[in-house]
Amino acid sequence: MLLLEDPTILLNMHGEDHLRLRRIVASAFTPRRAEQARPEISKIIDRLLDDVESGGHPADLMTFARLLPTRFISQILGVPEEDGEQLLEWVSAWLSFALPREDLDRAANDFSDYARALVERKRAEPGDSLIDHIINAHDVEDRLSENELISMIRMLIIGGNETIANAISRSLFSLLSQRQHWAALLADRSLVPAAIEELLRHNPPGGGTTGLIRLATADVELTSGSGVIRAGQGVFTPLVAAGHDPAVFPDPEQIRFDRPKTHSTMQFGAGRHYCLGVHLARVELELTLNALLDRFPNLRLAVPPAELPWSEGSYGVGLTGLPVVW
Ligand code: HEM
Repeated sequence: MLLLEDPTILLNMHGEDHLRLRRIVASAFTPRRAEQARPEISKIIDRLLDDVESGGHPADLMTFARLLPTRFISQILGVPEEDGEQLLEWVSAWLSFALPREDLDRAANDFSDYARALVERKRAEPGDSLIDHIINAHDVEDRLSENELISMIRMLIIGGNETIANAISRSLFSLLSQRQHWAALLADRSLVPAAIEELLRHNPPGGGTTGLIRLATADVELTSGSGVIRAGQGVFTPLVAAGHDPAVFPDPEQIRFDRPKTHSTMQFGAGRHYCLGVHLARVELELTLNALLDRFPNLRLAVPPAELPWSEGSYGVGLTGLPVVW
């Protein structure tokens, strides 16, 4: 089933049904929980960067960018690291525009079997990973049903994989193709959190192809005076446009780590569906950037920026290779 067609997935739910599910899992996604995840995320980053370093250069940092979120999601789910590649294959299938329907259906069925077995295993042998908290999470007496749990696991795997890989690859692309920004971070690490927001705004993981997809439930007159969106019409808001509105972000093509923090760039969405994993995402990106600055201060692209390969045919757009030297 296509991601956009699945009515049980958090992103596609509305009103009370959506609120109820968010309420149940909210406690697993607090800023505190994201902070507590720092040591395990750092450990994954260190191990992956050990591999990069020992492999010598040029190295393809896309391997790192893809494996970090996958390994972390595997830990969240309490599944073996080796299953990460399989999780990634499912995510790529769900996000693809290009796959035949039968391949999509097979990916959905295989995943459901996998997730059901995982939940059974966790119920029999509870642990302390985030999935245990989600299984046990409840709002007063309310818990997730079996099918809701499977959909929630699917949502987390989708939400937390390509987004992070693309955010890492796009941010590094910006920093290394305009290396004065890399130098600025080396000189002043306190800029890293602001840099992450600015890099996401400037070169968003969703690129031009993804945005917030909505169905108008009432007629809305546009404040620009350019017309009315009628109830029942579909609306697509490309996130790249939101972050490049010159009325909100003067000189939007410029990367500036000192932009006033007055406006949301919408890169994590807005309103009721605001990204549940936003705190985890920020921690993953901050630790990644700091680890790379620590270990590879002389990091440079190994090829001219125009020669880097970009993905096609998927909701998320990122690099497919990121050769670097140091
Ligand atoms: C840089 C990384 C990330 C970006 C840019 C991002 C972006 C977004 C955006 C734009 C939305 C809103 C979509 C909409 O309203 O249609 C969203 C929702 C969501 N994200 Fe993220 N995300 C990131 C990382 C993560 C991570 C790490 C997780 C979980 C581990 C996650 C889980 C979710 C979930 C569950 C939702 C659905 C929330 C709902 O529908 O109520 N995201 N994300």
